[in-house]
Amino acid sequence: MFNAAQLSMALDRDGEEPIYRQLIRHIRAQIESGSLPSGARLPASRELADQLNISRISVVNAYAELRSEGYLSAHAGRGTFVARDVTPDRALPEPSKHAPQPLKEQLNSDRPLREMMRLARQPGVINFGQGAPSPEFFPVATLRDAINHVLERDGAKALGYEMPEGYPPLRAAIRDYVSALGIRCTTNDVLVTGGTQQALDLVIQALVGEGETIVTEEPTYIGILDIARTRRINVHGIPSDHEGMRIDLLEQYIMERPPRLIYVMPSFQNPSGSVMPLNRRRQLINLAQQYHIPILEDGVYHEFRYEGEHIPPLRALDDYGVVIHASGFTKMLLPGLRIGYIISDGKHHQRLVRVKQAADISTPGLNQRAIHLMLERGIMAQQLERNNREFFRRRNAAVEAAQRHFPPGAHWRVPQGGLYLWVRLPSNGPTAAELYIPAIQKGVGYAIGNVFYPSHPDPYVMRLNYGAHRPADIDLGFKRLGEVWRELSHSYSDIERQLVL
Ligand SMILES: Cc1ncc(COP(=O)(O)O)c(C=O)c1O
Repeated sequence: MFNAAQLSMALDRDGEEPIYRQLIRHIRAQIESGSLPSGARLPASRELADQLNISRISVVNAYAELRSEGYLSAHAGRGTFVARDVTPDRALPEPSKHAPQPLKEQLNSDRPLREMMRLARQPGVINFGQGAPSPEFFPVATLRDAINHVLERDGAKALGYEMPEGYPPLRAAIRDYVSALGIRCTTNDVLVTGGTQQALDLVIQALVGEGETIVTEEPTYIGILDIARTRRINVHGIPSDHEGMRIDLLEQYIMERPPRLIYVMPSFQNPSGSVMPLNRRRQLINLAQQYHIPILEDGVYHEFRYEGEHIPPLRALDDYGVVIHASGFTKMLLPGLRIGYIISDGKHHQRLVRVKQAADISTPGLNQRAIHLMLERGIMAQQLERNNREFFRRRNAAVEAAQRHFPPGAHWRVPQGGLYLWVRLPSNGPTAAELYIPAIQKGVGYAIGNVFYPSHPDPYVMRLNYGAHRPADIDLGFKRLGEVWRELSHSYSDIERQLVL
């Protein structure tokens, strides 16, 4: 093991500049002057915090920011290092246009930011950072009835091993449900999974080998990045706009290095909220067919539309069998029973069943039967209708609150569905990571945008889950966020003024 570099610096504990900002400034200066050379290992966050007598979270925060700027890199199990290719005047990393980020760089590279985001889980913090509807939406009473009914009806049969493909009546109900969305399939094409997350993981396991590359939207769902890390595959982000993945840039990439899989969320993309219009959906399918690259469609937010025209899922437009459709009843009904599914045909389905069996034999039979009964009783349809009405109200509250409280120059698109507002802060103030700890201290949390980018992070973006909060809390939370942004930007300009004088 190398020895960590010794860092010495004078910190101003009574000044206005937050300690973690001072740390960032000192470390950056030492890297730029060459006194911290490329490849030098930095002390562990706890060690440096003890050495300087400051809180560990200040160090975690500073390291995270310096990593997002490209000054530092993290290596799983070995520590934090000065980046190899750091140059004196560099502000942001410029990874090569087409090369996927090396596997080692991707491993755990956003862990400190994600650790930091756990701080939002404390009383008094209005947390817009989570990725789910709040528990107030869960149908507790109807689930209790459904489970009791299943146990009375099926007895011990409900508690044994289920077939790996899934409980047959649930598979048939899923076929009927997706048919109503325009997806033509038979019961044989349906595989029941442990939530959408397992559906994505099974597809990756079945189709992508270690060291191979998939492409995703840039930014993308954090869970696919987690799967990629644990399965040791590379992810390349294709730049995306408010209509989703850019097909021209995807084609350019494919021509140079055909990936193994294209992963997309065409409706209410997480985190950006983008919706891919019909013509782009068709272009994507044609391109994938032309180059024989399967598309993995994640439809988990498809039904969360409260405004505008319904657009069919990719799988409903696919005449070639190039799209594998993954989704679940987790966001629409409740996440805790972990029921998702994959619609695919032919050889993909056979292979996926084998991978599923190897993973966990089958999804719990009791959960499948309870969800099946709830679908039959029309509970999901009722809940979707009620929830979408409430999300619409919350969306309006969020947009009004953002207009009222966020700084001039902050930018967002008004989502027509989903749960999230994706906000870009003006770049003349703190980044989303810099703002985070002061925001928590003020009682508001959010998801730091950097964690959603496989290739080129944008340090000024954040994701706000308005769907999880009542309008009064949305207003209060956004007000706190606006205030803390203003306080921090003032202290920045004061410091800049002092430096100039
Ligand atoms: C886009 C997306 N896909 C998949 C999932 C995983 O969902 P599930 O709870 O069904 O596993 C999530 C959860 O946040 C998600 O946002």
